[in-house]
Amino acid sequence: MSAKVIDGKALSRTIREKLAGLVEKLKQQHQITPGLAVVLVGDDPASEIYVRNKARQTVEVGMQSFEHKLLPTVSQKELLDLIARLNADPAVHGILVQLPLPGHISDKQVIESIAPAKDVDGFHPENVGRVASGEGGIVPCTPMGSMMLIRDALGDIAGMNAVVVGRSNIVGKPMAQLLLAQNCTVTVAHSRTRDIPALARTADILVAAVGRPEMIKGDWVKPGACVIDVGINRVLNVGGEGYRVVGDVDYREVAEVAACVTPVPGGVGPMTIACLLANTYLATLAIHGISSDATF
Ligand code: GUN
Repeated sequence: MSAKVIDGKALSRTIREKLAGLVEKLKQQHQITPGLAVVLVGDDPASEIYVRNKARQTVEVGMQSFEHKLLPTVSQKELLDLIARLNADPAVHGILVQLPLPGHISDKQVIESIAPAKDVDGFHPENVGRVASGEGGIVPCTPMGSMMLIRDALGDIAGMNAVVVGRSNIVGKPMAQLLLAQNCTVTVAHSRTRDIPALARTADILVAAVGRPEMIKGDWVKPGACVIDVGINRVLNVGGEGYRVVGDVDYREVAEVAACVTPVPGGVGPMTIACLLANTYLATLAIHGISSDATF
C-alpha cells in the first residue's frame, strides 16, 4: 500500500485565507484589529525562526503582530512585568511566550501569569481544565491542528481506536482529550508502557508526539491506519555532512502500510501556526463579547 499524504501546507493555507476574510469583516463591522504578542527570551536559532514565521503570517492575515525579544539574562520579574503590561493592553488579544525558557525562569509561573482570555497557547491551567471537561477553553495549537488534519482525512472518527505516543502537557495529554471528545477509544503510551509496538498496532489513528527521530516503524502500524507525526527532529546526515529534519515516524516504512500519513515538514507544523492565528481571532471575539458561528 502507498499511503495518501496528508497535506498540512494546503489545509493551513485554506484556514489562513478564511481567517483573512473574517479579520477583514471584524475590522469593517467593529473597527477591531486582532493583535498577537509573541515574547522570545534568548537567541535560540530554531525559536527565532518560529517567531519570525509567526510574525509574518500574523501580518498576512491582517492582524497586528507585537514582537518582544528579551536577553537570555532577563530576570523573571522583568518578564512577568512585561506580561502584566500585555495583559492590560487593549490592542493585544493573544500572548505567546516561546518555550523553552532559560533555566532561571519558571515556565509554570510565566504561563500562570498570562490572562486566561489571552492565553492563545492554551497552556494556562484554566484553559487546560476547561478543555479537559469539555467546557470550551482555548485549545493548544498543535493538538488542534492535528485534529483538523485527522477530521479532514477521516471525517467522523467516533468509535475508532486512537493511540497517542507521548504524554506531554503541550501535545500528548490535550491530544488524548480531543480524541476522546470525538468519541474515540483512546490509549496514551509513554516511556513506561510495556509493549508500545503491539499497542500501536491496535490503532486506527496513531499520533506520534515523543521527540524521538523515526521511532515509529512500519511494523508498528496496522494496515490502513491514519498516522499523524507531530515530531520535528534535526538529525545529522549519514556521512556527517549537514542536518535534515525528520519526524517521530519512519516515513518511508510507514507510508507502505498506513492509509494516510502526515509528512515532516509540511504536515502538522504549518497547522500549528494557522491554529495560533485562529485562537487569536477567537480570543478577540470572546474579549469583545462578539458572537460568531466561525468554526475551523
Ligand atoms: N515551543 C515549541 N512549541 C511551542 C508552542 O506551541 N508554544 C510555545 N509557547 N512555545 C513552543
